[in-house]
Amino acid sequence: MESERLAACQTRLATDSTLGADAVVLSPGENLTYLTGSTVEPSERALFLVLTADNGPTWFGPELAAQQLTEGTPVTAIRTWADSEGPTEPLRELLSVLSLAESHILVDETMWARFTQLLRSVAPESTFGLATEFMTAHRIRKDESELAALRRAATATDTALQWLRALGEDAIGLTENELATKIETELSAAGGESLSFEPIVGSGPNGAMPHHTHGDRVIQRDDPVVLDFGCRIDGYPADQTRTVVFGGEPSAQFRAVHEVVKAAQQAAVETVKPGVTAGEVDAAARTVIASAGYGEQFIHRTGHGVGLAVHEEPKIVEGSQRVLEPNMVFSIEPGVYLPDQFGVRIEDLVVVTDTGCERLNRTPRGWQLPNQ
Ligand code: CO
Repeated sequence: MESERLAACQTRLATDSTLGADAVVLSPGENLTYLTGSTVEPSERALFLVLTADNGPTWFGPELAAQQLTEGTPVTAIRTWADSEGPTEPLRELLSVLSLAESHILVDETMWARFTQLLRSVAPESTFGLATEFMTAHRIRKDESELAALRRAATATDTALQWLRALGEDAIGLTENELATKIETELSAAGGESLSFEPIVGSGPNGAMPHHTHGDRVIQRDDPVVLDFGCRIDGYPADQTRTVVFGGEPSAQFRAVHEVVKAAQQAAVETVKPGVTAGEVDAAARTVIASAGYGEQFIHRTGHGVGLAVHEEPKIVEGSQRVLEPNMVFSIEPGVYLPDQFGVRIEDLVVVTDTGCERLNRTPRGWQLPNQ
C-alpha cells in the first residue's frame, strides 16, 4: 500500500514536467506517514525522506533512528549521521550524490524552519518551494484502506455520541470539562486509539465560539450544547458535531436556528457528487442560512477534507473551483453563532461516491434527546 503510493509519487516526479521540481523532501508528519507508514515524531534531530526523479526514495536521519526507519517501511536506503558529526556535512554530501546541489526542491509545508534553513545552507544554489500541491494530488482521493479506517473511526465516534444522547438530563450540572472527560472515556471504550482533537463542549453562550474547547461552565437546563469531537482509528480521524439540549425547553429562536442549520447541512449533503465544485457545496449551505437571515452569523467555511490530517484538502469554501471526485472525504458543518447567546453546528463526514455521497456519521441530527 505505502510502496504503491511511493511509486506513484516517484513516477510523477519523473514524468510530470509541469512540476519543475527535481526532488521532494519530507519531514516527520502526515505526508511522510502517508508514503512510508512511519509515525516517527518530529524532533530536534534532522530527519528527512528524500524523493528524486532518478533515484529511489532515501532516508536521511540520525543513526539512532536507522533501524526504526528501514525496518517496517518500504524505504531501505538510508544516509545516517552521527551525533558526534552533526547533520550538516552528511546532508551536503547526500544532496550532491543525488545531484540536488543545484536544483528545485519541494519541501514539506510542516517542516520546521531550522530544517529548511539547514537545507538552504547546504544547497545554496538550489531553489525551494512547497510540496503541498504535489502531495495533495495524491492524498485527496482516499484508497480502500483509508476509507475503511475512516468508517471505523466515524462509527466509534457515533457510538460515543449515542451514549451522550442517552445520558439526557444526567448531563445537567456537569461542567463542560467533566463532560469532555466522559466523552474521552467513551471514545476510548468504543475503540478510539487517540483523540482527533480536544473535544468541544460549548454550552450556552460558549457555543457561539466555534473553537471554544471546554471550560468550567456548568451545563444548565435549557442550554444548547455544541458537541464536536472524534477519535482516531488506524491513524485516521473522525470529526462530527451535534448541538443538543440535555433537558428543559430551549428558546424559540434556538429551535428556529437549529432547523435552519439542519436544512443547510442537508442541502449541502444533497449537492455532493462528482463534477460539482467545492464552492457549489458551500453555496448550497450558505444560501439556506442567508435566506433565513443568518448569513452574517455563519462565520466559517462549510467544511474541510479529512484524511491523516483532520484539516486537509478539499476545503469546502466559498468560491472554490475544486471539482469533487469519487473517494474524496470531507466534513459538511454549517453553523450559526449568536454571540453571548448560543451556537448551532451540525457536522457529518461524507465520502464522494460515483453518484452522490455516503455519510460516515449516522446518528440523529436533532437537538431533542435521547434519539431524535
Ligand atoms: Co470539522
